[in-house]
Amino acid sequence: MKRIYLDHNATTSVEPAVVDAMLPYFSTEFGNASSIHSFGQRARAAVETAREQVAALLNARSQEIVFTSGGTESDNHAIFGVAQALLPAPSGVEGPVRPGTHIITTTIEHEAVLNACQALEKQGVAVTYLPVNREGLIHLDELRRAVRPETVLITVMHANNELGAIQPIAEIGRIAAEARVRFHTDAVQSAGKIPVDVKALELDLLSISGHKLYAPKGIGALFIKSGTRLRQLLYGGHHQRGFRPGTENVAGIVGLGKAAELAGFSLEKDAARISRLRDTLERGILDRVPDSSVNSANAPRTPNTANILFPGIEGEALVIALDLRGLACSTGAACSSGAVEPSHVLTAIGLPAAEARASIRFSLGRHTTESEIAAALELIPAAVSHLRKLSPTYQKSAVIR
Ligand SMILES: Cc1ncc(COP(=O)(O)O)c(C=O)c1O
Repeated sequence: MKRIYLDHNATTSVEPAVVDAMLPYFSTEFGNASSIHSFGQRARAAVETAREQVAALLNARSQEIVFTSGGTESDNHAIFGVAQALLPAPSGVEGPVRPGTHIITTTIEHEAVLNACQALEKQGVAVTYLPVNREGLIHLDELRRAVRPETVLITVMHANNELGAIQPIAEIGRIAAEARVRFHTDAVQSAGKIPVDVKALELDLLSISGHKLYAPKGIGALFIKSGTRLRQLLYGGHHQRGFRPGTENVAGIVGLGKAAELAGFSLEKDAARISRLRDTLERGILDRVPDSSVNSANAPRTPNTANILFPGIEGEALVIALDLRGLACSTGAACSSGAVEPSHVLTAIGLPAAEARASIRFSLGRHTTESEIAAALELIPAAVSHLRKLSPTYQKSAVIR
């Protein structure tokens, strides 16, 4: 059975050219980038080249890029870093955050942002979670109204991992700049898929993750605009100018650099091709599966993401049924204490729990082919129809109609 992978928002394969670029750094070029001998110097040079490659993808300067262990660490560093750095205790000793400190975020962020904000709430920070509309977009007026004199950070994701919906980041950047509030975006799902320009978007901080753009897992980066005060997350040596101590993951960094370079070369071409395939998939499903609909259909979206509601089915059951037929996709549901919780993103756009549970994400990638989409269009309607036959709720609603 030829397997089809439509779950690129979960993770991507590592591009062969990225593997090739990394390999020497596991063997002959194994030096520690902090060593002064030639082994170390070659590792250092490779790290700095990668920093330039990542900076180029984001239109940043290389000294503004700090390598991290991935999107989660980058998000945590940005959020804790701003909340804690801007607020030295009166004694001058860096302490816990000042009570009343305020952060603005949204209800549809990744857990890396949401749970960091919730942890800060326990330290006395006030957090506003902006709601989103049916398309998954925030209202700029609500953001303007939410800004207070105590607001230190606005953190709003660029593209949502479940819906693909793209927030009006440039407008948010303008609002943040006017209010003199630091602005962070989680660009884990946008970098490499759509243009990301930290200057045009007026960003102070931006997170990316290697494994969403054809580099390995466990490597990421945080853009920190020059002059931004940020408390460090980790304590240790002087690596990365003290921003992120710890011996650099040279091979991972080289991989991220190469992946960023490749993404920059092929972004426009990939986006055009992938969005055509995504549209074919969506249209095909809507034509063949009665009552199906696309979540966030009217929002600007990343080219690769389709989130589809199939009333009457359990998303988990459809994911398993499709996996048995060779197609990998996902739900946004999370398993907590044995129960399947509907996705917080889908409930935030107003879907009732049953509809949130009946929604599935297909996310295409650079190597997705037309014939895979054609095959998916055979598999999906058959699997949905099979599950609906077993679903008392779907039959009931079908009768009522
Ligand atoms: C939007 C978003 N932010 C952050 C992360 C976390 O990134 P990482 O897996 O590199 O920690 C993910 C991963 O799914 C994501 O989709």
